[in-house]
Amino acid sequence: MARLLNRNFILGITGSIAAYKAAELTRDLIREGANVRVVMTEGACGFITPLTMQALSGHDVHMDLLDTDAEAAMGHIELARWADVMLIAPASADSIARLVQGRANDLLGACVLATPAPLFIAPAMNQEMWAKEATQDNIKVLSDRGATVLGPSSGSQACGDVGAGRLLEPALIVEAITETLGTGLLAGRHVVITAGPTREPICPVRYISNRSSGKMGYALAEACVNAGAKTTLISGPVNCSAVDGVHVIAVETTQEMHDASLLAAASADIFIGAAAVVDFKPESVASQKIKRNGVAEMDLRLVPNPDIIATIANSASRPSLVMGFAAETEDVREYARQKLEKKSLDYIFANDVSDASIGFDSDRNAGVLIGQNGNIEMPISTKRILAEAIIGELSRHLD
Ligand code: PMT
Repeated sequence: MARLLNRNFILGITGSIAAYKAAELTRDLIREGANVRVVMTEGACGFITPLTMQALSGHDVHMDLLDTDAEAAMGHIELARWADVMLIAPASADSIARLVQGRANDLLGACVLATPAPLFIAPAMNQEMWAKEATQDNIKVLSDRGATVLGPSSGSQACGDVGAGRLLEPALIVEAITETLGTGLLAGRHVVITAGPTREPICPVRYISNRSSGKMGYALAEACVNAGAKTTLISGPVNCSAVDGVHVIAVETTQEMHDASLLAAASADIFIGAAAVVDFKPESVASQKIKRNGVAEMDLRLVPNPDIIATIANSASRPSLVMGFAAETEDVREYARQKLEKKSLDYIFANDVSDASIGFDSDRNAGVLIGQNGNIEMPISTKRILAEAIIGELSRHLD
């Protein structure tokens, strides 16, 4: 299995003779399932062409901080948020010194500062430069700040010297990153997730639904695949892109989501209800479009839908962990806690959907993960990052 499936890498290339190896590195990362966006410094362009990196990565190469075209397509902040991993290979002595200073007057420096993603640095330089106190001090500072330094390796150098300073071989860089990212938290496990809204038809052209975009559920599915789980996503009608490695079952009504969820949950280790399920449906569905002609008022009689997650949490084949979401607009924690108890859940993520910057249809979310082992505050972040944090927490509490 591709060990870096769906992981978003920014590959930063700086000015070093080893820059040509970034081509092989890009191919190795993509072979492992990663999405790679390349950022090149001016110095890097003297050693390898952006065109080569564009062809290999399959995307435009990012070079300028103030390039209006690039900012229109994917601005540097967006790029930094998109990344799951920030890798600089090769990292020259100068680029390492600039990272220590937190310089942001080129695109690479700005991306490193703007991303919450873990930073990996693969240095490459002349052996004297590598051995110098200044470089060693800089490397120590970056390590102390949490960066992972990969290599360098020793051997003969392009300049004729022999010693430490060669870029670690691309295959070894990929291997080290894969190990450090600790994939496989959910290897061998089956996770079933519901996502998006459900729709309850009133007539052939109208329905009752809600504002859920599915982004939260899809981010969770991606995090599960990245953690090595067999992942089933039961999705209401949404516009989210398919996630490689996820088995999607498309449904429309609550009853369809209920039936598909019960079937899939019977073999699941974890069930997560991220869907915004429509609780009531019209008692009867008109077979033809309802016309306004002459009608002053209309009563719509609604009857309850099944509670999917409560049924699963109380079933004989209950998954080891059942987690719900609570979309609330007031007394968020209290109502969420009541739902946790009432529906017999192990966890519930309480999010305040009255805040337009998070929750429904936003790329970001925030809330508190309420569980039997206490509460974990999850401050505002991308749904991807939140999903990784939630899945990390759940994986620690599986039997
Ligand atoms: O989809 P996005 O745009 O990314 O937005 C994300 C979200 C706001 C939809 C998500 O974070 C969220 O809060 N999902 C749950 C929404 C919801 O329906 O909450 P609820 O409080 O009504 O339901 C509580 C739990 O019971 C949920 O896990 C829900 O999936 C489940 N439920 C509810 C009703 C029902 N009939 N069956 C259920 O399984």
